[in-house]
Amino acid sequence: MLVLGIESSCDETAAAVVQDGITLRSNVIASQIDAHSQYGGVVPEIASRKHIEAIIPVIMQALDDAGVSLRDIDGIAVTRGPGLVGSLLVGISVAKSIAYAQGLPFVGVNHLEGHIAAIFLSEQRPAFPFVALVVSGGHTSVYLVKDFGNVNIIGQTRDDAAGEAFDKAAKMLDLGYPGGVVIDGLAKKGDPAYIHFPRSMRDSKDFSFSGLKTSLLNYIKKREHPIKKDELPDIVASYQEAIVDVLLEKTLRAADDCSVKRVVVSGGVAANGRLRERFYEKSHEKGIDTYIPPAVLCTDNAAMIAVVGENLLQKGRRDSFDLNAVSRWPLEMVSVL
Ligand code: KG4
Ligand code: ZN
Repeated sequence: MLVLGIESSCDETAAAVVQDGITLRSNVIASQIDAHSQYGGVVPEIASRKHIEAIIPVIMQALDDAGVSLRDIDGIAVTRGPGLVGSLLVGISVAKSIAYAQGLPFVGVNHLEGHIAAIFLSEQRPAFPFVALVVSGGHTSVYLVKDFGNVNIIGQTRDDAAGEAFDKAAKMLDLGYPGGVVIDGLAKKGDPAYIHFPRSMRDSKDFSFSGLKTSLLNYIKKREHPIKKDELPDIVASYQEAIVDVLLEKTLRAADDCSVKRVVVSGGVAANGRLRERFYEKSHEKGIDTYIPPAVLCTDNAAMIAVVGENLLQKGRRDSFDLNAVSRWPLEMVSVL
């Protein structure tokens, strides 16, 4: 089965063709970073307009790269939520139009389930059940994943998402947007033990990153301005270490609590080099297998949406033309909506 995936929930316009839910035939992503960077974050109105401009060329490119035409496609999967409603509606409208014109089935997919499902495009695929950490710009949550559409939440952030913690730190240090990638690169030259930033809520299953952010702000205020260039790598490496420490500790503890030996990490922050290294190392020590998609499938993409779509279509799910976008759609409610 060939599924065309479409993703437009935030600031990436993406389309992909996936075969049988496991083989990536094409994966096209048009980033809007340049349009938003001068504002230091995503501007919803600009995002919707940019999606409208990009979506048709991106879909055409995905078909072309896969060497197929719309006539070869068996079904369409589109992100239904969570995300920016104006952005989501661009993808949903185009998905409906193609489905109508081609007489194809289409399904709306939960973006967070997509992030987790990205792992099925890797050569090493985990068996169910597993514990999944979804770490992105909008979410930081740990789940027990029993199957597609069957997920229990274990813990989540009470304030900022881990990706936001990266982005806000980069903003405070004038490193540009989006902060995660910049900090990842800069931290490679820094000492992670240079400053001991707080690791909040250690005993809880939930996360909190606002104290860490304040602690960085206080540190910056005490320094001479501008902060010396050669101190920056040490500062961001220490900050990154505090984030990675709590993500790692709580996810592995959740796996222990659930007596599960498999952990999946996904979402934009899972592209982080230090996070990947620490997860592989520590889980290996504990006899747990960690699965992390390649970086390009951790950040937003449409291939992950096609994987979930394939599963829904195979189960006979068909959405109707009155399908609407949903801005908030917790993953544990995935089978309810
Ligand atoms: O999953 P994603 O592409 O979009 C959302 O669904 O939010 O995640 C974007 C987030 C941003 O906060 C970005 O700074 C962060 O992922 N990110 C990273 C890295 N690449 C992207 N954070 C740390 N290290 C990275 N290499
Ligand atoms: Zn995402």
